[in-house]
Amino acid sequence: MMSDERTPIETPARIAPLPNLPVFHKLTGRKVVVVGASEGAAWKVELLQAAGADVVQLTDTWVPGDLQGAALAIADMPDRKEALRFVTAARAAGAPVNIIDQTDLCDFTFGTIVNRAPVVLAISTDGAAPMLGQSIRSRIESVLPLGLSAWAKAAAEWRPLLKARIPDFGARRGFWQRFTDAAWRGVDRTPSAEDFEALVADTPAARVGSVTLVGAGPGDPELLTLKAVRALQNATVILYDQLVTPEVLELARREAKRLAVGKTGHGPSCSQSEINRTIVELALAGETVVRLKGGDPLIFGRATEEIDACKAAGVPVSIVPGISAAQGAAASLGISLTERNTARRIQFVTGHGADGKLPADIDWGAMADRKATTVLYMPRKTLGEFVRKALAKGLDPATPAVAVANASRADEARVGGTIATIDDLAQALTPGAPVTVLIGWVARDLAEIPSPLSAELIAFPRAIAS
Ligand SMILES: C[S@@+](CC[C@H](N)C(=O)[O-])C[C@H]1O[C@@H](n2cnc3c(N)ncnc32)[C@H](O)[C@@H]1O
Repeated sequence: MMSDERTPIETPARIAPLPNLPVFHKLTGRKVVVVGASEGAAWKVELLQAAGADVVQLTDTWVPGDLQGAALAIADMPDRKEALRFVTAARAAGAPVNIIDQTDLCDFTFGTIVNRAPVVLAISTDGAAPMLGQSIRSRIESVLPLGLSAWAKAAAEWRPLLKARIPDFGARRGFWQRFTDAAWRGVDRTPSAEDFEALVADTPAARVGSVTLVGAGPGDPELLTLKAVRALQNATVILYDQLVTPEVLELARREAKRLAVGKTGHGPSCSQSEINRTIVELALAGETVVRLKGGDPLIFGRATEEIDACKAAGVPVSIVPGISAAQGAAASLGISLTERNTARRIQFVTGHGADGKLPADIDWGAMADRKATTVLYMPRKTLGEFVRKALAKGLDPATPAVAVANASRADEARVGGTIATIDDLAQALTPGAPVTVLIGWVARDLAEIPSPLSAELIAFPRAIAS
């Protein structure tokens, strides 16, 4: 409804009062004047150029004529009188004006933005709390997948094609509903022509969910990647291992279904084939499945079997890497895993073969290499045998070794000695806790610590790094 000049329409009661009206201004190819050479002015220039504006920056003086034909006028002018003169001139030229850091003189303000172009979010606190605005932005940044951009671009490309393929307006709405579901499910991959066809045809393929193998890191939730957090917040179902800590699971969406599929080594647990079957069935039923694994999913995580099962069933599968126990342990010990002259190679070795025994085909020559750092995963049952064999094959008995239990978690504990003593020392670590053993000269300073077989020394641990 239109209003004439004398009778302004009432504010509709269903909208709470707004301090400003957020609008998205088209600036492509339009003149925008920025006066000033400060950092604030430079930032505005960058932002305006990103929006396609034809920016005229005046770093020295300005005259009212400079504002002719400007779509917007911005100035950094601490001098209040000059700023007022600029405001008057800009308004006379018909350009809305912004004076940096003088909100009361502004016709418009710049919000804080989250850019997933063509999707753009702008946040304003109306000058009340700019830092709060920044922190809102960081929070949104951390949960809004970058891949959203590709799906929104695809939507723009597909829109005209769709009109030709589906002339009926109601049917097109159905397409866009399916598109939206597919975008969230497939947000970690780029949409393809096949996606378009499947969505147009509304075939079951269009309703297929996805599986993402996500690295949960060694336990500290702060060690998750942004992508892992986003995947957790996007998941409808999460299948997690026993090594995944409750703090990491906390980061998932409240409504997500959580299924424990932990393999404890003994006790009841899902078999690998049951896990493969379950992730595939859930994805085929349209669920966004996260398969959450301790550490990095690609290191001793049986990822290949799950990837193959998904591929065989035509289920889209993607991977979010994580911090492995080796890196988590080394970081809390405060040591490097490589060193230019002393450790030129890292080798990750499992102490637990398919039959639960020490694998028979370990390359013992490599284990005895003085210039390698060896990280032994799942060492608890076979450490003694590993040590005996490594020493027999020539590993120097003085080689430093550190065993770390519950790396990166609040109850982390470590014992340090040499390869010859590490098996005895490791017996003192909490039974059942995950343990990783680092072997090599990179740990020489830690290994000089006297035998830590007393309770205090076993709890010493965090003191080493500090
Ligand atoms: C099945 S493997 C999984 C490895 C995992 N994918 C990774 O990248 O860390 C399990 C072994 O990882 C090691 N591990 C995992 N988390 C650990 C932690 N927080 N502290 C010490 N070792 C850990 C232990 O050796 C454990 O027996």
